[in-house]
Amino acid sequence: MKKYLGIPVGLAFFGFFVLAYLALASDWHRHKRAPDQPIDFSHKIHVGMVGLECLFCHETADKSTFAGIPTVEKCMSCHKNVATNRPEIQKLAAYWNAQTPMEWNRVHRIRVRNHVYFSHKRHVKANIDCAACHGEVEYMDKIRQISSLEMGWCVQCHRQKEAPTDCLTCHR
Ligand code: HEC
Ligand code: HEC
Ligand code: HEC
Ligand code: HEC
Ligand code: HEC
Repeated sequence: MKKYLGIPVGLAFFGFFVLAYLALASDWHRHKRAPDQPIDFSHKIHVGMVGLECLFCHETADKSTFAGIPTVEKCMSCHKNVATNRPEIQKLAAYWNAQTPMEWNRVHRIRVRNHVYFSHKRHVKANIDCAACHGEVEYMDKIRQISSLEMGWCVQCHRQKEAPTDCLTCHR
C-alpha cells in the first residue's frame, strides 16, 4: 500500500497550489483590474491638473442608473485645439474624423448581475462622494477598481449610513 501514498499527497499538494492560484487570480480580477484602453486617457491630468468636475464627463451619474462615459465629441470640444501635436490626441482625432465611437474597456462591473439593482442616481443624490466607491481617481493615470463591489461591501456601508438592508432593497 505504501507506494500509493505518494499519489494523494501529491494531488493534495498540487491542489493546494491550484486553489491558491485561483484565489489570487480571482482577487486580482475583482479588486485590481485596470484594463488597457484604446487611448491613454488620464484622470490625473483631466481631474487633478485641468480641474474638470466628474459630472462634466459622467453626465448621467445624478440622473440615471449609469454614470455614463463621454463621447469622442466631448473630448474634441477641447482637443480640436489642445495638444493636437501629441500622438494620443492624433489617435483621438482619427476616431473623430471617422465618426467611430471609442470602445472603452469597462473597469467596474458587479459580477453577479441577475436581480441585483444598483443605481448611481440614488447614491449621488444622497451626497455620497464618487471617491467613497471609486477612490481618489484624481491621482490615477489609469482607473483601477478599489472596491470589491460584492454584497458584503454594499451592505456594510448601508449599515453604517442606516440605509435599508432588507434583501428586496437590492434584489428585485
Ligand atoms: C474629461 C472627461 C472625464 C472627467 C472629467 C472624468 N472622467 Fe471618469 N472617465 C472618463 C473616460 C473617458 C473614462 C473611460 C476610460 C477609462 O476608464 O479611463 C472614464 C472612466 C471612469 C471610471 C471607470 C468606468 C468603468 O469602466 O468602470 C470611473 C469610476 C470614473 N471615470 C470616475 C470618475 C470620477 C470620480 C471623476 C471625477 C473625480 C471623473 N471620472 C472625471 C472621462 C472623464
Ligand atoms: C476641458 C478640456 C478637455 C477635455 C474635455 C478633454 N481634455 Fe484631454 N487634455 C486637456 C488638457 C488641458 C490636457 C493637457 C495638455 C498638455 O499636456 O499640455 C489634456 C491631455 C490629454 C491627453 C494627454 C496628451 C499627451 O500625450 O500629452 C490625452 C490622451 C487626452 N487629453 C485625451 C482626452 C480624451 C480621450 C478626452 C475625452 C474623454 C479628453 N481628453 C477631454 C483638456 C481636455
Ligand atoms: C455607492 C457607490 C458608488 C458611488 C457613490 C459611485 N459609483 Fe460609480 N459605480 C459603482 C458601481 C457598483 C459600479 C458598477 C455598476 C454595474 O456593474 O452596473 C459603478 C460604475 C461606474 C462607471 C462605469 C459604468 C457606468 O455606470 O457608466 C462609471 C463611469 C462610474 N461608476 C462613475 C462614477 C462617478 C463619476 C461617480 C460620482 C458622481 C460615481 N461613479 C459614484 C458604485 C458607485
Ligand atoms: C458608501 C456607501 C454605500 C455603498 C458602498 C452602497 N450604498 Fe447603496 N445606499 C447608500 C445610502 C446612504 C443609501 C440611501 C440613499 C437615500 O437616502 O436616498 C443607499 C441606497 C441604495 C438603494 C435604494 C434604497 C431604497 O430605499 O430603495 C439601493 C437599491 C442601493 N443603495 C443599492 C446598493 C448596491 C447594490 C450597492 C453595492 C453594489 C450599494 N448600494 C453600495 C450607501 C451606499
Ligand atoms: C445593499 C445591497 C444588497 C442587499 C441589501 C442584499 N444584497 Fe445580496 N447581493 C448584492 C450584490 C451587489 C450581489 C452581487 C455580488 C457580486 O457580484 O459579487 C449580491 C448577491 C447575492 C447572492 C448571489 C451570490 C453569488 O455569489 O451568486 C445571493 C444569494 C444574495 N445576494 C442574497 C441576499 C439575501 C438573502 C439578502 C437579504 C438578507 C441580500 N442578498 C441582501 C447586494 C445586496
